[in-house]
Amino acid sequence: MITVAVIGCGYWGPNLIRNFVQFPGVRMKTAVDLNLERLRHIAQLYPGVHTTTQADDVFQDPEIDAIMIATPVTTHHPLARKGLMAGKHILVEKPMAASTAEAQELVQLATDRDLVLMAGHTFLYTAAVNKIKELISSGELGHIYYISTTRVNLGLFQEDINVVWDLAPHDISILNYVLGSEPETVAAQGQAYIQSDIEDVAFLHLTYPGDIIAHTHVSWLNPDKIRRITVVGSKKMLVYDDVSTTEKIRVYDKGVTVQPHYDTFGEFQLSYRFGDIYTPRLDDNEPLKNECQHFVHCIQRGERARSDGHSGLAVVHVIEKACESIRRNGEQLPLRSTGELTKRGAGQ
Ligand SMILES: NC(=O)c1ccc[n+]([C@@H]2O[C@H](COP(=O)([O-])OP(=O)(O)OC[C@H]3O[C@@H](n4cnc5c(N)ncnc54)[C@H](O)[C@@H]3O)[C@@H](O)[C@H]2O)c1
Repeated sequence: MITVAVIGCGYWGPNLIRNFVQFPGVRMKTAVDLNLERLRHIAQLYPGVHTTTQADDVFQDPEIDAIMIATPVTTHHPLARKGLMAGKHILVEKPMAASTAEAQELVQLATDRDLVLMAGHTFLYTAAVNKIKELISSGELGHIYYISTTRVNLGLFQEDINVVWDLAPHDISILNYVLGSEPETVAAQGQAYIQSDIEDVAFLHLTYPGDIIAHTHVSWLNPDKIRRITVVGSKKMLVYDDVSTTEKIRVYDKGVTVQPHYDTFGEFQLSYRFGDIYTPRLDDNEPLKNECQHFVHCIQRGERARSDGHSGLAVVHVIEKACESIRRNGEQLPLRSTGELTKRGAGQ
């Protein structure tokens, strides 16, 4: 039996509580929020769950093994830090922390104490993203040329973080996961049109090993909701449309090949291939349920999580540098790998 607590019962926290209440072998003991209204709401839904405004209650409770943190980003590090210091396994919502230095410290604490630290990169637990990873690693798409991602809609404007911190963690975590690598550079441009100094639109340009480029467009200022990822490979291409309910992934047997031999420009020929388009079948399990089950599994087996602290750190580092690039008018900045960032003594 694993006993858990959730800190933060706003929009997202109750989804975590709903899942943990249903898991056999898990006791969802305590819900924490500073807002009494939110706690009353949880108490009504789940009378068996103890509620408190004091996060220290769960850090000091010897019965609690693991804590999920679904509070605003700036509170992630102080809460996760206290939890790890108290010997608790921690799942922190995305982005794992508000800076590279904060994320580095959390990874170090979890490593030193042999605790599970997991970042809430929910998309890594979707059937669609795992299918994309499978199609890339099996070689079906060929050599990957580039990936473009679009995550835009109208709202929800945040007051404490810009659109890069809010939305891009999803895309960066997906890109790193499906490519099995981390970007080497980032360049970004963004603008704060509605709220002063809080960018509501941004374009990120990333380079990955193997000449792969990735482009990410995030915005709270767009007329329609688009959640789309296009992967272009040398053999096939795919489009992942997360808004679609029936055809989330379409694989296109399309491509272009240069004829191997030519002597003059007149003989230069490209051959275009327009083959079949197919839609792979995907399981429709709730991604958050998969994520929560994975967290429990990793605690029980002492395994490293798919979206472990290193993956949380990698994402935070890219976001931090992307924001720095925005301030420097789109300058391309080098990124450090998580290997470098987690070497003992590796400062900012
Ligand atoms: N994985 C996902 O797909 C996903 C989706 C939505 C939100 N999130 C993440 O979840 C986190 C919370 O987002 P949200 O939309 O639920 O925000 P929210 O503002 O709706 O809720 C945050 C809650 O935390 C409480 N809180 C703030 N500081 C606290 C503290 N020190 N101790 C206890 N409670 C505290 C607030 O009172 C509020 O009820 C964010 O990091 C966000 O990025 C993740």
